[in-house]
Amino acid sequence: MVEALILKNMSADIISGKAIAENLLDTELVPRVEALKAKGITPRLIVILVGEHPASASYVRQKEKFADRAGIVAETWRYEDTVTEAKILEEIETINQDDSIHGVIVQLPVPDHISVEKILRAIHPSKDVDGFTPQNVGQLFLGEESLECCTPKGIIRMIESAKVDLNGKHVVVVGRSNIVGKPVAILALNKNATVTICHSRTKDLDAQIAQADVLIVAVGRPEMINGDQIPEGCTVIDVGIHRKEGGGLCGDVHFESAVKKAKAISPVPGGVGPMTVFCLIENTIEAAERLKV
Ligand code: GUN
Repeated sequence: MVEALILKNMSADIISGKAIAENLLDTELVPRVEALKAKGITPRLIVILVGEHPASASYVRQKEKFADRAGIVAETWRYEDTVTEAKILEEIETINQDDSIHGVIVQLPVPDHISVEKILRAIHPSKDVDGFTPQNVGQLFLGEESLECCTPKGIIRMIESAKVDLNGKHVVVVGRSNIVGKPVAILALNKNATVTICHSRTKDLDAQIAQADVLIVAVGRPEMINGDQIPEGCTVIDVGIHRKEGGGLCGDVHFESAVKKAKAISPVPGGVGPMTVFCLIENTIEAAERLKV
């Protein structure tokens, strides 16, 4: 039951992305994979990993583990950080042509000599399970069915799991990146929310946040938003993840103060991160289901 996944707290309810992802793994993903396997299709995901970025190595391990539990194949193709852009483009072309592969992602960041734009544009949109290609982003913008970016898609599922109906609500997004801020704003708009996008040049950030029924923070600055800024009754989704100097992890929101003001809040870790992984595996299954057999 999804209600049981929202942990009732003395102050805010805690929206456990980890528990939601685990529940949906068992109830939705495993049966879908079994149905595909009965037709002779095993969803297969390739993760292209360039260099030795420590956070990337950990994210990739989480993706492999979750894929394995869903019953799909996930392979990480590893390259030295000196690999040429041409080689990566060649690999993507091989993957595009291989009918046994349903999804591919290039784990970001990549070294500076490799153009992210070029690499992403080389991926065939039907295998773009990160939802980063111009075609998938454009279809999301138009409200058409597409492979949706994983973090924004996961955020909307978390909000829905917390029983917040976005219809007519004011969603304030802090951050305007192409992979979180902009697409999550469009997804919320597609759910009939009124959306404000704030960023580093926003004049009175506090005044904007004060209007939020739902606050989504994706700025990449540790504990930048605190409880004083959060209106009573607000649902808060914290997308940031940072290593604290004294050890442990924190988000873009100062959890201890925010939890006292919010109606519901996602924790870090165990909030948005597991939902991003979930949506990647779900997108890979969706890409395999779309194949005509
Ligand atoms: N690096 C950090 N987050 C992501 C993500 O969602 N997808 C990819 N490809 N790389 C990332």
